[in-house]
Amino acid sequence: MDHFEYRDGVLYGEDMPLTRIADEFGTPCYVYSRATLARHFRAYTEALGSHPHLICYAVKANSNLAVLGLLARLGAGFDIVSVGELERVLAAGGEPAKVVFSGVAKQETEMARALEVGIKCFNVESRPELERLDAVAGRVGKIAPVSLRVNPDVDAGTHPYISTGLKDNKFGIPVDEALAVYELAAKLPHVAVTGLDCHIGSQLTELAPFLDALDRLLALLERLRERGIEVAHLDLGGGLGVPYRDEHPPAPFDYATALIERLSRWEGSERLTLLFEPGRSIAANAGVLLTRVEYLKPGETKNFAIVDAGMNDLIRPALYQAWQTILAVDTRKPRDTATYDVVGPVCETGDFLGKDRALAIAAGDLLAVRSAGAYGFAMASNYNSRPRPAEVMVDGDQAHLVRRRERLADLWAGESLLPDDRGEVR
Ligand code: LLP
Repeated sequence: MDHFEYRDGVLYGEDMPLTRIADEFGTPCYVYSRATLARHFRAYTEALGSHPHLICYAVKANSNLAVLGLLARLGAGFDIVSVGELERVLAAGGEPAKVVFSGVAKQETEMARALEVGIKCFNVESRPELERLDAVAGRVGKIAPVSLRVNPDVDAGTHPYISTGLKDNKFGIPVDEALAVYELAAKLPHVAVTGLDCHIGSQLTELAPFLDALDRLLALLERLRERGIEVAHLDLGGGLGVPYRDEHPPAPFDYATALIERLSRWEGSERLTLLFEPGRSIAANAGVLLTRVEYLKPGETKNFAIVDAGMNDLIRPALYQAWQTILAVDTRKPRDTATYDVVGPVCETGDFLGKDRALAIAAGDLLAVRSAGAYGFAMASNYNSRPRPAEVMVDGDQAHLVRRRERLADLWAGESLLPDDRGEVR
C-alpha cells in the first residue's frame, strides 16, 4: 500500500497534489512519500516483533539523505556497498553500529574507514577479501566482525541482471566452500566470525527461493556448529519484489513471518538475530517520477509522447525492459485516448519510459511514472549533459525539496581545459 492516489481527478502524493509540486519545483522531478517509506519499513519490524532483528535498508535503492535520515530515525540499520554509501549514512545520522558492508570489491581504504567508525559487520564475499580484511584490521589495531556471504545456488526466478544467488554469478562464496573459509576466518587473528549472510537476487515474487536459501544456510550453520563455530546473526539479504504491474509478491509481513516460521525449527533460533537488507520493497512504491509532455508526435505505425524525462533520469525501462505504470496526473480536462510510446529526449532508440500505453493526454500535461522510488534517481546519470532531476519529499500537505535540481554549471564542475600552446589554462 502506498500514498499516491487520485482525488477528484488529480493524482496526489499524501495530501499534496502532484500538479502543485510540478509548479513549485519543475519537472522532471522525483517525488517521495514519507508516510509510504515509514509504512513499508514498519511492515518489516512489525512482522519480526520480539524476535531479535535489524532491518538494514539497502542504501543503493535510494540514497537521498532525507530517505536515510527518516529510516535512521525509525531505527533502521543500513546495508552499504561503498564508502560513499557509508559517508551518506553517517551524514544522515545513521548509526555505524547498525551498518553492514556488502560488495565484491571492497578496497583497503574502504575497509579502514568502516573499521574506524565501527560498523556492525563486513559481509565478506571471497577468501582473498577475508585475508585483506584481516591484514587491514591488524594494521589499524581492530578486530573486524565478519559474516560470509554464501552463494546458495538457488534460482531466484528474476531478471538475469538482478539474479545474484546462482553459481554463475560473481557474488558470494559457494556454499560448499564456505565451511573451509569459515575455518580460516576462525583462525585469523584480526577477524571475528559474527554472522552468516546471503542475498539471492532482486524483485523476487515467490517465497520458495527465499525458503530454499534459508534451508541451505541452516544446513551450513549445523555443520559450523559441529566444528564449534557459532554465529550471532543470520542475514537473509534483500530482494523482496514489489507490484509494478500485475505481480503479486508476498507482502513484507508475510515474507518475514514465513522465514521466522521456517527458522523456528532450528535449535537455538530464538537467539539468532535476523537481519534483512530490503531496498526496493521499502522505496520503490514510495516514489514517482513526475514528467511533462513536451510534444505529441503521431506516426504511421506509432504515436510518441515525448516527455522531459529520459533514460538518464530513469534507466530501468531501457536497461531491464522494466514495466512501470505511467499515469496522467490531472484527468479533469477532456482528452482523446490514444496509444503512445512514452519516450525521452535522449538520443538513443532505447530511451523510453513505457511502450504501448493508452493515455488521454495533450502536450503540456503532466505524467507520473510510478514505482520509481527505488533504483530511480540512484541510477540517474548526466548522459546527454542533462542535469539530474530535483527530489522532493511529501509529508502530509507539506513538500520538502530534498535535493535541488542540478544546475548546468554542476555538469562540468571538476573538469578542466588543457593548457594552450603557451602552457596556460585560460
Ligand atoms: N543486499 C544486497 C547485497 C544487494 O546486492 C541488493 C541489491 C540488496 C540487498 C537490495 O535488494 P532489493 O531489496 O532492493 O531487491 N538496479 C536493479 C536492482 C539491482 C539490485 C542489486 N542488489 C533494478 O532496478 O531492478
